[in-house]
Amino acid sequence: MRMVRVPLGTRSYDIRIGGDLLPGLGLVCRKLGLGRQCAVISDTTVAPLFGKSALRSLRSAGFEPVSINIAAGEQSKNLKSVDQCYAALANHRIERKSFVVALGGGVVGDLAGFVAATYLRGIPFVQVPTTLLSQVDSSVGGKVGVNLKAGKNLVGSFYQPQVVLCDLNTLKTLPEREFRAGLAEVIKYGIIYDAKFFNWLERDLDLLLRRDAKALTKAIARSCEIKAEVVGQDEKESGLRAILNFGHTIGHAIEAITAYGKYLHGEAISIGQVMAAQLSAGLKGLPARDVERIRALFERAGLPVQIRLTAPQRTRLRKAMMLDKKVSAGDIKFVLAERIGTIHIGQSVPDQMIDGVLKASGTS
Ligand SMILES: NC(=O)c1ccc[n+]([C@@H]2O[C@H](COP(=O)([O-])OP(=O)(O)OC[C@H]3O[C@@H](n4cnc5c(N)ncnc54)[C@H](O)[C@@H]3O)[C@@H](O)[C@H]2O)c1
Ligand SMILES: [Zn+2]
Repeated sequence: MRMVRVPLGTRSYDIRIGGDLLPGLGLVCRKLGLGRQCAVISDTTVAPLFGKSALRSLRSAGFEPVSINIAAGEQSKNLKSVDQCYAALANHRIERKSFVVALGGGVVGDLAGFVAATYLRGIPFVQVPTTLLSQVDSSVGGKVGVNLKAGKNLVGSFYQPQVVLCDLNTLKTLPEREFRAGLAEVIKYGIIYDAKFFNWLERDLDLLLRRDAKALTKAIARSCEIKAEVVGQDEKESGLRAILNFGHTIGHAIEAITAYGKYLHGEAISIGQVMAAQLSAGLKGLPARDVERIRALFERAGLPVQIRLTAPQRTRLRKAMMLDKKVSAGDIKFVLAERIGTIHIGQSVPDQMIDGVLKASGTS
């Protein structure tokens, strides 16, 4: 098992990464000194796969868990589901020392974390992420929240878990497309922070795609280490944490104009990162060879690297980028790379350059 510490003073916690961690969930919770009553929040896909194992482990460690399942999918990440969870917690007499276990992907993690952050003004919670994306990204760093009709993640909080258990066995049932989408975030960590890690990904991507346990442990642990280091220095995103948004300004806009239907998040940010690399070549001197290495790695990971847009779609995309939260005083700020592993935040990019990259995409 590998351990990665997220250094946040009194709110510090460990991320445990390894095979078969779920049967040990109860013991881990007991060591945290949590109350008897607890709730396992999961979804209708994950609960039948791993719910029993989680509940059995908690019961044998002396806890009294109730299980709460929401319908699988992003459309459940809303205030209605939050309300349903509150009702179930009240029914189960959850109190201040009780805790919530989030068992599932990022949807469950964000929702359950928000429920834990707000019920009784905050009760402890434990993350058991079961998608690659949630293991390397959403379960680490404490951003929790839900969507409104007006937009994604508009209601939320910063609320750190007590511990994160990344059980590699849970990834065995993850659909291929979801797995590859998670790799888009893993590759991002190499680009923004660690050229050596990027080199290793280039070398061992095939092992990762086969979900080799050793390669997975290394990829997840290094990703979590990087996110932990960044979050440890800038928990509430006043500066450095913005590097995690590499490729996300364009990626979020692609998700928005395709009504969150065509592309998974990881797929949209794969295209977004390739475009950000192209902008970086023009503005930060990222060598053309590195732009090509970045494009090639996403492509080998089975992710889309370009998008064909009509002129009206390009206009909609630019408007969607303006709505993204990284816009200040009407100016879109980009995260751009100078080298693989060296990044700059808050970069202004001329409109015609963005349009040039959008036009060129999908025309080769
Ligand atoms: N809080 C953060 O910092 C942060 C960061 C990135 C993303 N997010 C959020 O994360 C969410 C996306 O997370 P996601 O990609 O994990 O999506 P998800 O939670 O919807 O999971 C994807 C699908 O896989 C299924 N699934 C989950 N684990 C499985 C397993 N082990 N085997 C088989 N099927 C499984 C789920 O039921 C779902 O249908 C978005 O809502 C996004 O906003 C949050
Ligand atoms: Zn992302």
